[in-house]
Amino acid sequence: MTDKTVLVLGGTGKTGRRLVSRLQERGAHVRAASRSGQVRFDWDDRNTWEPALQGADAAYLVDMQDKPGAWDAETNIRELAKFAVESKVRRLVLLQARVTEPVGGKSLIAGEEAVKASGAEWTVLRPNWFNQNFDEGVLLDGVKDGELRLPAGDGLEPFVDAGDVAAVAAVALLDDGHAGETYELSGPRAIGLGEAADAISAAIGRTVRYVHVDHKDYVDELVQYEVPADYALFVADLVAQIRDNKNAVPTDTVRRVLGREPRDFADFVADAAARGAWNV
Ligand SMILES: NC(=O)c1ccc[n+]([C@@H]2O[C@H](COP(=O)([O-])OP(=O)(O)OC[C@H]3O[C@@H](n4cnc5c(N)ncnc54)[C@H](OP(=O)(O)O)[C@@H]3O)[C@@H](O)[C@H]2O)c1
Repeated sequence: MTDKTVLVLGGTGKTGRRLVSRLQERGAHVRAASRSGQVRFDWDDRNTWEPALQGADAAYLVDMQDKPGAWDAETNIRELAKFAVESKVRRLVLLQARVTEPVGGKSLIAGEEAVKASGAEWTVLRPNWFNQNFDEGVLLDGVKDGELRLPAGDGLEPFVDAGDVAAVAAVALLDDGHAGETYELSGPRAIGLGEAADAISAAIGRTVRYVHVDHKDYVDELVQYEVPADYALFVADLVAQIRDNKNAVPTDTVRRVLGREPRDFADFVADAAARGAWNV
């Protein structure tokens, strides 16, 4: 048990929500923060930053690098980390992604140098694509429609469970021995989108097909659905990372940090199907 106070940005999101529960189980005082969270925090409203940070011993930082619109991750994280250190927040755990090449002109690791230079103890998390993209994220509509149209080719991705990311974040926030580490977090095995679609189809008794779409055609399709062109390119480039097997090799980090295997995609699918996540 701990008496630490932890600020969780993105506290309503995929990893943040799960992290809040984990920290509470450990007895921490948790401040779940976001625009709609229990503690109001808005990256676009600096007046919300200091009140959210006040009194926290540690903070989990989730930025908006993968959202539509202009966003200077490097500057925003640098300034938030500065406020954090001034507010006596001693430990920062930063969520980034296991994508080191620019996608759609953006870097998904742009905040790393800022936390490293902040003077706080830092840990960086670089996860693969989350399982939860299929049941609460960008792939949910495709699964429900029965067709996952993506420019992912036959590429492989070791999808990681947001619960495992949260579990690693919790120990990095509360326990010693994780400062100065950059953790690349994957699931136990790499699978293709076709295999993912087949697993979901079998679990829900309804066919979900994976259809490869050319990168340019995919961007055009999204734009037709009124997705801004720069964001469509960002998503397409991100999926192209899967197509090109850029981060296809599983890591042993979850096992090293948590002392147990990461959650398998099949286990995630069984649970999501049983919850009715893909009911139409
Ligand atoms: N999804 C993946 O597969 C994946 C994989 C690797 C890394 N990541 C990284 O994980 C991070 C989160 O991505 P996600 O897709 O999983 O999203 P998410 O955490 O499920 O949702 C975003 C969170 O940020 C909050 N938020 C949105 N706009 C905000 C703002 N202006 N100010 C403060 N909070 C705001 C949202 O809450 P409110 O709406 O209440 O503000 C929500 O809690 C990104 O940095 C992404 O690069 C994601």
